[in-house]
Amino acid sequence: MKIKTEYSASERPNEEQLKTLREKAVQSLEMLKTKSGKGNDYLGWIDLPNEITDCQLVDIEQLAEQIRKDSEVFVVAGIGGSYLGARMVIEALKHNFDTLISERKHPVILYAGNTLNADYTADLLDVLDKKDYSLCVISKSGTTTETAVTFRLLRNHLEKKYGHAQAIKRIVAVTDKSRGILKSIADKEGYKTYVIPDNVGGRYSVLTPVGLLPIAVAGFDIRKLTKGALQMSEELLNNADNENNIAIQYAVARNYLYNQGKTIELMVNYQPNLVYFNEWFKQLYGESEGKQHKGLFPASVTNTTDLHSMGQYVQDGQRLMFETVIHVDNPKREINIAEQSVDDDSLNYLTKFSLTDINHKAEEGTRQAHLEGGVSQLQICIDKTDEYNIGQMIYFFELACAISGYMLGINPFDQPGVENYKKKMFALLGKK
Ligand code: PA5
Repeated sequence: MKIKTEYSASERPNEEQLKTLREKAVQSLEMLKTKSGKGNDYLGWIDLPNEITDCQLVDIEQLAEQIRKDSEVFVVAGIGGSYLGARMVIEALKHNFDTLISERKHPVILYAGNTLNADYTADLLDVLDKKDYSLCVISKSGTTTETAVTFRLLRNHLEKKYGHAQAIKRIVAVTDKSRGILKSIADKEGYKTYVIPDNVGGRYSVLTPVGLLPIAVAGFDIRKLTKGALQMSEELLNNADNENNIAIQYAVARNYLYNQGKTIELMVNYQPNLVYFNEWFKQLYGESEGKQHKGLFPASVTNTTDLHSMGQYVQDGQRLMFETVIHVDNPKREINIAEQSVDDDSLNYLTKFSLTDINHKAEEGTRQAHLEGGVSQLQICIDKTDEYNIGQMIYFFELACAISGYMLGINPFDQPGVENYKKKMFALLGKK
């Protein structure tokens, strides 16, 4: 993985500005390593790749195997950090049209507990009436309304469909080790449970069973994923050469641009299977940094699709943003365009390129145009979207987020603002 930074003409930093920010970033990394900064009781994610044992992986793989045998559909019920990591990895790795592939070997993964919309939930129940399914309910607090309400509905549905005893075997609860209503229900009913460690917050939890179980059920290699994360943790934590530490470089660049008055970081990718990477990124950075009226607003586009919707604004609208582009060198598959004897669509000039070459040229052309338009460009380059590389990205973005948060002077591990809507909603609903 590599990072490139290119500042627009009016935003080029001088060495002194970068040096000051680099020192701040190095201090922030030190505070994370020595666990001496804000929210230091939520730093368990730093050591997760190193601490996952073979025994834990085997246990998850065996349960995943069982679920694959029993179930055509696996419902993952959770919201925010309790589902976005799993969804990000699964969407990045799966066949884009997996539900329509008849020879698929793994259950279709469906997501629930992340909305209060009746249509979505009713439509889901229609599908579950007709399919054999298992359910994984994920909630660290065990009380999140969206997830709890959905769990009640699905638990009842499972019991009606399979009977109480069989339903129990189809439910897995991922929650706190001792606290919360979900934990009490799981103990009372005897569900298989996994623990979300006390010191790991939701949005940093993808490398716990929160992410690993759904990813394994979907048929992806959780060993390669954790290996990628481990390699990245070693590279970033043991790197004495701070100038070449890519998490520090990224945190410095985005904080520099924030200090120049840029208020939006636009995450950009060029492949539809990274749409949920964008969603995961926005949740990780938005919930971590948006505090005390500070923080970059994380937004996202998927190009070239969105060049035909948001491209005009990025090129020519208010100069509020910089872009962070995920550049992927190699697709999983390649397509070439055949030459036609009659060039009736005038596309023969493209036949010397693969579709990926064309996509890369679009990316490069957009980079040049946006740079000229005053939009600074950060580029995160990966080889391909496989488990190993996604594991690396997870650790890289988590660590860079924590470093950035400390540079801003906020606690990147809490989310006090999320409580406000809940209080108003509960008051309206008359909750005691
Ligand atoms: O990142 C976070 O901490 C949040 O997004 C939580 O994951 C989300 O609010 C769900 O919380 P819980 O797992 O307690 O249901």
